[in-house]
Amino acid sequence: MILGALKPTNQGDKRSTLHPETIKPLLDMGINIIFERSLGKDIDIDDEVFEALGARAVSRDECLQSSQVIYSSSTLDKEEIAKLKNETVFIGLLNPFENREQFKYFADQNVTAISMEFIPRITRAQKMDVLSSQSNLAGYVAVIESAKHLHSALPMMMTAAGTLKPAKVFVVGVGVAGLQAIATAKRLGARVEAFDTRPEVEEQVKSLGAKFVKIDLGETEQTNQGYAKELSTEQLKKQQELQQKVCANSDIVITTAQIFGKPAPKLINSETISKMKKGSIIFDMAVESGGNVEGSVKDSIEIVNGVKILGFSNLHSFVANHASFALSNNLNNLLLDFFDKESKKFVVNLNDEVLASAVFTKDKEIIKEDFR
Ligand code: NAI
Repeated sequence: MILGALKPTNQGDKRSTLHPETIKPLLDMGINIIFERSLGKDIDIDDEVFEALGARAVSRDECLQSSQVIYSSSTLDKEEIAKLKNETVFIGLLNPFENREQFKYFADQNVTAISMEFIPRITRAQKMDVLSSQSNLAGYVAVIESAKHLHSALPMMMTAAGTLKPAKVFVVGVGVAGLQAIATAKRLGARVEAFDTRPEVEEQVKSLGAKFVKIDLGETEQTNQGYAKELSTEQLKKQQELQQKVCANSDIVITTAQIFGKPAPKLINSETISKMKKGSIIFDMAVESGGNVEGSVKDSIEIVNGVKILGFSNLHSFVANHASFALSNNLNNLLLDFFDKESKKFVVNLNDEVLASAVFTKDKEIIKEDFR
């Protein structure tokens, strides 16, 4: 079997879907690996490093045309899909909500398209969960970047020149990214508070040594995958009002709130921003899906009443080496779970709940059309 690894096409994505430290199990299975030239450039890995391990550098076209299985951190356009071989298995971050029409082209080309975003959140599949592995790193990056822009240190310091107070950090939304943001801010010595609409999060927040902010919104719902459901307009308004005081007292506010497949809820409005201290930071981690913060702009630093609103995207690529290590492991874990050692083929078994959830096209058909 030939596995091909493509370079990302999304601007700002610096990740590589192969990593020198994770490639060995694939080679041990007898899989032939080709990769698009300069795949590892942004993580400081020269082609020669992959070649010394047994992979082969090729042009993008050769990678598209010769592979039976392809790794990619983005989807392809129509012209490139037309270059894929019949029955190719294309595994990647396909962003289905924004790339619906692509599945028609994958189906027409008889390609099996597997979206890593739809790997189910079950214990067995945690090792393949790209959303978690990348969100975890993004949570870390949000704290480090916020700290860089704050004009104070995070930890308390008792010095001969006086006692420096610890920074106060408020994390809104405590999924994978939020938990890592809390842990990172705590490690740096900040005083941390957090809130999420899912009540079970309170225990997790406390176990990291942070304080859970109690905001009673009445009944809040979640999906069977553990994702939060949208709040009603009244609930959202109540949340905005009740968290205003916490924001006003914070030096750094990190928002991570997302609703799977829908625009992010607007949690911090301009009224809240007007009550915050000059020089404080808001880091909007949801900026790519519409933003949690009024006035946040993708890939920009907006200053409103002296408050800096950071809207950086592609946070994984601030730590692209670790992000590539984790991403390539996630992909390899999926590939190897469905790799048949006898036939040396990737077996698309739709009776398996992992593939039943993540495969979008097979045998010239779109098999997952209604996925919202
Ligand atoms: P996400 O990125 O979709 O959302 C981030 C957080 O925002 C979530 O915790 C959500 O509850 C919260 N949120 C939504 N609306 C909010 C609001 N108005 N105010 C405050 N917070 C709000 O979530 P992520 O990180 O993908 O995790 C979703 C769930 O999946 C979590 O329960 C997580 O623990 C679970 N999970 C389970 C895994 C497994 O294998 N069992 C693996 C990874 C995550």
